[in-house]
Amino acid sequence: MAALKVGIIGVGGIARTHIPGWMASEHAELVGGSDIHEEALQAWGKEHGVSKLTTEARELINDPDIDIIDICTPNTYHAPLAIAALDAGKHVICEKPLAPTPGEIRQMIQARDRSGKKLMTAQHFRFQGSSRAMKSQIDCGVLGDIYHARSWMLRRGGAPTGLGFIQKQHSGGGPCIDIGVHILDLTLWFMGNPEPVSVTGVAKAEIASQENAFTGWGGGQPIPPEFDVEDFAAAFIRFDTGATLILEVSWLLHHDTQGEDMQMWLYGTQGGAHWPKNEILESHKPTRQFTNKTLKLTPPGLEAHAEECVQFAKAVAEDLPSPVPAEQSLQVLTILDGIYRSQKTGGEVRL
Ligand SMILES: NC(=O)c1ccc[n+]([C@@H]2O[C@H](COP(=O)([O-])OP(=O)(O)OC[C@H]3O[C@@H](n4cnc5c(N)ncnc54)[C@H](O)[C@@H]3O)[C@@H](O)[C@H]2O)c1
Repeated sequence: MAALKVGIIGVGGIARTHIPGWMASEHAELVGGSDIHEEALQAWGKEHGVSKLTTEARELINDPDIDIIDICTPNTYHAPLAIAALDAGKHVICEKPLAPTPGEIRQMIQARDRSGKKLMTAQHFRFQGSSRAMKSQIDCGVLGDIYHARSWMLRRGGAPTGLGFIQKQHSGGGPCIDIGVHILDLTLWFMGNPEPVSVTGVAKAEIASQENAFTGWGGGQPIPPEFDVEDFAAAFIRFDTGATLILEVSWLLHHDTQGEDMQMWLYGTQGGAHWPKNEILESHKPTRQFTNKTLKLTPPGLEAHAEECVQFAKAVAEDLPSPVPAEQSLQVLTILDGIYRSQKTGGEVRL
């Protein structure tokens, strides 16, 4: 079978991490790129030997030579580009969040279903060795039923300054949408993707809204005046299984982190687990002993951002299910949207 031809839209920071995946894939070949910044696009094309370049994303989307569109633009452009690409008969891999709102994701799912093409969210943490080792243990049943989880992704002085992240019109939200999607997607995947039914939460800017507020990024910079999203969120979530989750995310918390503190505890009827330490905690009734064991990591393959592209190309070539289905991203964004709604109403929100 001829290699699937890939075109990337948005050739900035994250697109660079996808290129080694397209290079390594036996099924795909990177042939095109699009970006609204002509100069950056031309430099990128020269650097990677890509000659099909256009500042009009629709030209790449409608190019009959292209099979896969890889969307790496700021968040609020994901849905319109993905829907146009699916309607043009392309398979789509799209950076996280799939879209900043559940309504847009529902429209993307409809476009996927009417096109019969594949749609995947680039949730790269699922492709790390530590995540794969943990997921395979959980799927073997070592934890029993997971009835509670705690997860957080917290930074001290770690707010980005790019408008694509801190201005709602481009990002759709703050750390909920930027990093909350990572830890929440991974937690739900480990829990077996139960359906969320309610959330009570807060989402606010306590630090970024202060006079002379700053971030540690880039060696210390002021928070730009355009910052109009939350810098902190916390939530309590209930699922249809009866399971519960406590979630915390922040870019700017007075929390003792070495860069970033991303962790998860899973509590099951037969055992507990910590990620990314990858410890399984068990109790043995006959001997009345408690034990902790550390999982062996699945041997490292490609770096996770590259691996997700390899797996998407394989899924398209071999007609396998999407490695990260849009329905699971819909659960993630339904919860995050519920946190924003709960902040407004001050109470629990039914999902
Ligand atoms: N998975 C991860 O680890 C990870 C990390 C960072 C960013 N991201 C995601 O990747 C996406 C991009 O983030 P980034 O850090 O690469 O940002 P970036 O600003 O470095 O790059 C974005 C690029 O998109 C271009 N662009 C903007 N609007 C466009 C449009 N309408 N059409 C075509 N090009 C457009 C910009 O000119 C820029 O070159 C975001 O959705 C972000 O959430 C994911």
